[in-house]
Amino acid sequence: MKPEHFYVTTPIYYVNDKPHIGHAYTTILADVLARYHRLLGEPTHFLTGTDEHGQKVQQAAQAHGITPQEQCDQTVVRFQELWTKLDITHDDFIRTTEPRHKRVVQAILQDLWDRGEIYADEYVGWYCVPCERFFMEKDLVDGKCPDCNRAVEKLLEKNYFFRMGKYQEWLVRHIEEHPEFIQPEHRRQETLGFLRQPLGDLCISRPKSRLSWGIDLPFDQDYVTYVWFDALVNYISAVGYGADEARFAAWWPASYHLIGKDILTTHTVYWPTMLKAMGVELPRTIFAHGWWLVGRDKMSKSLGNVVNPMEMADTYGVDAFRYFLMAEMTLGQDASFTEEAFVTRYNADLANDLGNLTSRVVKMMARSFADKVPAAPAAGADEEELIAATLGAVNHMRDYLNAMQLDRGVAEVLGAVRAANRYFDRMQPWVLAKDPARQAELARVLCSAGECLRIVAGLLYPVMPEKMRALRAALGLPENQLEPHLETLAVWNGLVAGAELGPLETLFPRIDAKKPEPPAAKPAKAKEQAPAGVQLIDFATFTKVKLATALIREAERVEGADKLLKLQVQVGAEMRQVVAGIAKYYSPEELVGKTVVLVANLKPARLFGLESNGMLLAARAGKALRLLTPDGEMASGAEIG
Ligand code: MSP
Repeated sequence: MKPEHFYVTTPIYYVNDKPHIGHAYTTILADVLARYHRLLGEPTHFLTGTDEHGQKVQQAAQAHGITPQEQCDQTVVRFQELWTKLDITHDDFIRTTEPRHKRVVQAILQDLWDRGEIYADEYVGWYCVPCERFFMEKDLVDGKCPDCNRAVEKLLEKNYFFRMGKYQEWLVRHIEEHPEFIQPEHRRQETLGFLRQPLGDLCISRPKSRLSWGIDLPFDQDYVTYVWFDALVNYISAVGYGADEARFAAWWPASYHLIGKDILTTHTVYWPTMLKAMGVELPRTIFAHGWWLVGRDKMSKSLGNVVNPMEMADTYGVDAFRYFLMAEMTLGQDASFTEEAFVTRYNADLANDLGNLTSRVVKMMARSFADKVPAAPAAGADEEELIAATLGAVNHMRDYLNAMQLDRGVAEVLGAVRAANRYFDRMQPWVLAKDPARQAELARVLCSAGECLRIVAGLLYPVMPEKMRALRAALGLPENQLEPHLETLAVWNGLVAGAELGPLETLFPRIDAKKPEPPAAKPAKAKEQAPAGVQLIDFATFTKVKLATALIREAERVEGADKLLKLQVQVGAEMRQVVAGIAKYYSPEELVGKTVVLVANLKPARLFGLESNGMLLAARAGKALRLLTPDGEMASGAEIG
């Protein structure tokens, strides 16, 4: 393994349909990781591509009245155009119909056949057409496909099999001895669970009478290769396996195969056993992320809720879209996409926190110091908190990246931005600006907030490359530093006194949320009532309310109550059940792992027959509701007040 090399892959996408937000997500994630590693100065290779064989593509071609190759050629463009639009910096794009790939797949098959790793047999099985997978009788659930629950077809035919079963014990041992091999941990457990059943051999052929669109088996021209046996090989064929040994040695093993949770078995069982049979080292980590739901629903054509990433980028901007996807999904868990959530986060994080700070700092510097970065006295006690938050974000981002917790890294960076806004408000530079005797102080405040922005813009550069370049240019950084070097981010005082400030456009114009429906006319009586007064309470009354942080461990819907979720939360050493009316705003999956604020001394109540011990605090505006969470890492059971 070469720790100094970084090789990241996405799944190769089927070309039966145009790309959706799920495809965009994994590719943006890979891009962000690749960009970070490039900024660290590591040799980086980022591979994506398309999976062009198999039944799905053949069926799509039939439906469109074109050949499978035409289907591939027309659809691959949709992916390539989207990656250009989304500023994806892949180093290679592999199509499985390319000769460089087909040659390698055939050479592998021939070698495995020659060495008895592949054999022919009569096979009775059940086939799921949409999933393109064969199952044994015992694998079916209620006679249906265990993955998608759709009807399966019974088949009896001669086929070729890869001796996968004989590697079962070895694979279990490898997974046990290499906890980093499958991440996150619950997916590792899922694969280990799967491997508790006997592992059968894998059917790796399809008779051409049934499916002709695939790579020919080199030892039997009546068969094509099973699409997964073909597709997985892309990860090595693209980097020179069997063709250019030096190139292969430079990149393999991959650092990360990024995948969605639905293709876990193919990647954590089929792929490692295939590599073992070939005598090739295994990838370091297979990382499975969750799914994007739309609101609370699975995304599907039949529901008509498929989110088109091209449209999102056109409407809201590429960088804002990239930011939302990275900030919103806790890696490993499902996340919910709604335009409302998008607009709320955009306005809060980008338009308000980051955009406003930028405009305040740069405009005031320009006005007070003739469009230049002023020379400023050294930072002092006033700047301590700001510097700690900003340099802390640099370390956190590095640690969270290594732990594949990108959303947390981003949250830390936004925490630094908020610290800078608080600093700005506390130091009141607009007051200093009016006093000619306090210009040095003014310079220190503006440069300190500007320093924070320089570092923040560097940390967020891999997520929002275009906007963060613009921000760094506005701060007067020279052309060769617009793309940051990560080591320069850990050092305070990187702005150059006397540098000419760059032009500043509004980085993130506020998006006006769709106007809420006008309220229904109130009965005449309501008008006569006095507006609700605010009842004042004294501090002693306030302290009667015990607030504490709580970590949500489990969440599930309450049957028959579409507003309620039943949560198991950890408050320090204690576990509690809380029933919360938030099901319309959060899916159970996205809540698990969140630290929230709990009213801890509320008398127990019963809701829908379920005991509830406490209440979660949330902010509500119109139709939006967001749970309150601590601004950064905080243990559960921490007191609030
Ligand atoms: N061709 C195979 C992968 C072969 S890799 C050797 C394939 N293609 S796919 O186009 O159907 O899916 C590609 C990826 O998109 C999968 O990782 C899948 O999990 C992901 N997603 C599909 N829908 C998704 C969401 N709604 N949300 C997030 N990712 C989703 O499978």
